[in-house]
Amino acid sequence: MAKSAAQQPVGVALIGAGMIAETHVTALSAARHAVRLAAVVSRRPDRATHLAALCEGDPPLFTADLAAVAADPAIPVAIVATPPSVRREVIETLAQAGTHVLLEKPVGRTLEEAIEVVEICERAGVTLGVVFQHRVRAPSIAAARHVAEGALGRLGMVEIAVPLWRDQSYYDELGRGTYARDGGGVMLTNAIHSIDLALSLTGPVASVQAMTATSPLHRMEAEDLAVAGLRFSCGAVGSFVATTAAFPHRTEVIRLHFENGSLRIDRNGLEISWRDGRSSVEAGARVESGDRPLAGGKHAWHQAVIEDFVSAVGEGRKPMVSGREALDSHRLIDAIETSSRTGRPCELAS
Ligand SMILES: NC(=O)c1ccc[n+]([C@@H]2O[C@H](COP(=O)([O-])OP(=O)(O)OC[C@H]3O[C@@H](n4cnc5c(N)ncnc54)[C@H](OP(=O)(O)O)[C@@H]3O)[C@@H](O)[C@H]2O)c1
Repeated sequence: MAKSAAQQPVGVALIGAGMIAETHVTALSAARHAVRLAAVVSRRPDRATHLAALCEGDPPLFTADLAAVAADPAIPVAIVATPPSVRREVIETLAQAGTHVLLEKPVGRTLEEAIEVVEICERAGVTLGVVFQHRVRAPSIAAARHVAEGALGRLGMVEIAVPLWRDQSYYDELGRGTYARDGGGVMLTNAIHSIDLALSLTGPVASVQAMTATSPLHRMEAEDLAVAGLRFSCGAVGSFVATTAAFPHRTEVIRLHFENGSLRIDRNGLEISWRDGRSSVEAGARVESGDRPLAGGKHAWHQAVIEDFVSAVGEGRKPMVSGREALDSHRLIDAIETSSRTGRPCELAS
């Protein structure tokens, strides 16, 4: 039976003590009114010491015993921050013990694995949420409000651009950019955040025609470039370009062109250009360049995702991004890979 998270602060376990775990520990410390970091599951004592220094409040238990943490009734929520290759068994152990799971992206290395993870949690009756923190950025929230209000009219054209730079040292890390550990390259590891945000504003994609490749600028197994033409179910058309081979590093930009105006969304602001000549910048000043590649983003965004998830579990509602909703991004990535492999357009199952 799923554990209850009615009592605040809610006990949370962090599974995995790698790079993104630092962001989670900082976020959990900042959200102490709502959550209590009760345990960190890690096989490495040196990482535990490092993370302990970031903890505010009572230090958590550091343990390698996942089963014991899963069985603890005082820990109804676990954040899973292991690599994509170390997911299915971890989630199965947690879900079967009734622990609700907030999962770092991606949901799985393949669409099939992602569906399996979602179904494991659904069968066990636990809530599965996915960390897609671009959704909680101020420009994204403002864009969602404008889209919902309807004054922009019909969506006609979409541009999703993820022009990132990663040095070869990034891919020299064992497993990075391999199918065995990560499930792929730039799409699953980096661009999936922009894909999720874009789809939350546009609705589903109906078909794609795509090419993926590894550029001569990187030595890696999976793709560092993906280019696709998109046909959306709503009738709009658009483009998707994602790469980690674009120097200097720039920020991700989503542009949505409607009948009555266009939105330009990036991490720093939302720019609205109405056809009648009005224009405005909301939710922060726009900065075009100079962004540095981020290792995990700001903790405030993770904090907002964690706070939403524990409230969702407590209230028995859907979290901001459920596991099932996250499958939309996986379906699009899978279709882009299929289209690139076959050289033909690929329809997405609705
Ligand atoms: N939302 C974001 O912006 C964001 C940013 C970065 C990463 N991520 C995602 O977060 C996840 C983790 O990424 P990361 O960069 O933090 O990875 P990482 O630095 O490689 O750390 C992953 C942790 O998982 C644990 N682990 C690895 N292999 C294991 C195994 N065989 N059995 C049990 N535990 C194992 C390790 O913990 P111990 O060795 O301590 O046991 C390791 O510290 C990935 O899915 C990544 O895509 C998300």
